[in-house]
Amino acid sequence: MIVGFTNEGSCMRYIIIGAGAVGGTIGGRLFDSGREVVLVARGAHAQALRERGLRLELPDGTHELPVPVVDGPDDVTARDDDVLVLAVKTQDTADALARWSGHGDRPAVVCAQNGVENERLALRRFRDVHAMCVWLPSSYLEPGVVAAPCAPLTGILHLGRYPSGADDTTRRIAADLADSGFAAPVRDDVMAWKYAKLLANLGNAVDALFGSVGGGPPAELAERAGAEGAAVLDAAGIPFVGAAEAARERGDRMRIRPVNGPARGGGSSWQSLMRGTGSIESDYLNGEIVLLARRLGVPAPVNEALQRTANLFARERRRPGDLTAGERAALLASLREA
Ligand SMILES: NC(=O)c1ccc[n+]([C@@H]2O[C@H](COP(=O)([O-])OP(=O)(O)OC[C@H]3O[C@@H](n4cnc5c(N)ncnc54)[C@H](OP(=O)(O)O)[C@@H]3O)[C@@H](O)[C@H]2O)c1
Repeated sequence: MIVGFTNEGSCMRYIIIGAGAVGGTIGGRLFDSGREVVLVARGAHAQALRERGLRLELPDGTHELPVPVVDGPDDVTARDDDVLVLAVKTQDTADALARWSGHGDRPAVVCAQNGVENERLALRRFRDVHAMCVWLPSSYLEPGVVAAPCAPLTGILHLGRYPSGADDTTRRIAADLADSGFAAPVRDDVMAWKYAKLLANLGNAVDALFGSVGGGPPAELAERAGAEGAAVLDAAGIPFVGAAEAARERGDRMRIRPVNGPARGGGSSWQSLMRGTGSIESDYLNGEIVLLARRLGVPAPVNEALQRTANLFARERRRPGDLTAGERAALLASLREA
């Protein structure tokens, strides 16, 4: 199918590369508010989306959305107003960018992802790169179905040009998002928000590895991963927004509410293990801290242990909570090395 239609009244066309939890929610909400959206998906998910549309579960109910779906760039005639919204996990970014690098002359690219590597990868291939700090609890556990349980806002999506600043395109995208159930503050220093989010995401591997078995993970492990990460960012002179400021910004605008469908038992890394995808994002979350620490010659034992064990779990397609006693002991021992 070639998608080349125009939609009166819409300024931009959003091509969502990776229509999973985050991409499906952002794409679905933009589509629902009348914006022009194309979802890029693959495999069983693409088939379900084509047959039944996107089923987006929100606290106010189920939204059945007939969003156009494509396999890749050969199915979409490029337009000047295209915005490529990158919403794959970081380990899939290089491949996705390579596939889409020939799309049009200069599409805007938005990295709607965690970690801080995606923008660097995107800027190698595209001039107009925007970073998004994604506060959007969401899940994708079965083909065709995406759930986002927060209300009254579905999420808060700080947006700015990469590496810094903001322009008219940033503001137009933010205005569309603000009209679609999100807050989308435009920030000159968006990467300081993304580094703050990175610190919060250092606990993703803890959730994924421990699951809810035995009362869930020891709180100390995620706390120490975050503290170790903050110390490494400080040592590297990288600014990040403080946790208190980030919490103030969220206030009570994003409360978890019940939604239909499978329960969200954990974040995006937990979901990777639940779906048995064979890969996990830890090299770009805990691994970002490990990389910086190695460059600086300082230790980061907690993040190293989490990264190593998470990769092992993904490779062996183990489920959250499948830790052996030895692995659990080794993770807890990393706390004493710190
Ligand atoms: N989930 C959350 O609550 C949350 C919240 C904030 C930020 N984030 C961040 O948002 C980013 C996306 O996470 P997510 O949880 O939305 O991931 P996800 O649910 O796994 O969605 C990613 C989707 O991209 C697809 N994909 C991968 N490579 C592709 C390619 N080359 N072409 C087309 N589709 C491709 C995957 O395909 P398959 O269907 O084959 O797997 C999957 O459907 C990550 O950086 C994550 O850390 C997630």
